[in-house]
Amino acid sequence: MKAKSGIYINFLPAPGEAMVSHKDHCILDVALRSGIPIDHTCGGNGTCGTCLVEIVQGLENLGPRNEVEAEMAEDRGFESHERLACQSAIVDGLTIQLKQKKT
Ligand code: FES
Repeated sequence: MKAKSGIYINFLPAPGEAMVSHKDHCILDVALRSGIPIDHTCGGNGTCGTCLVEIVQGLENLGPRNEVEAEMAEDRGFESHERLACQSAIVDGLTIQLKQKKT
């Protein structure tokens, strides 16, 4: 069984590159499987907004927001490069900046 896709996502700051598995459906899947902490209070249902990340590179390959993400983006005024990790598909060449946690 082939488990790896050969696609990587680069997460900033460290740990850096994470290899995408064929089992991953969204950016959040890749991060969590790779041990990269991204909050996901609603469990990836697109209702909490805690998985918001910034796309530093590759936004042009990502495609438009789905209906769930588009509704939240409009309500909360997300910038075009701010995407929900749980609603964003995986494409090659992504570099993602994790949001700083507010203390
Ligand atoms: S995990 Fe809640 S919106 Fe993505």
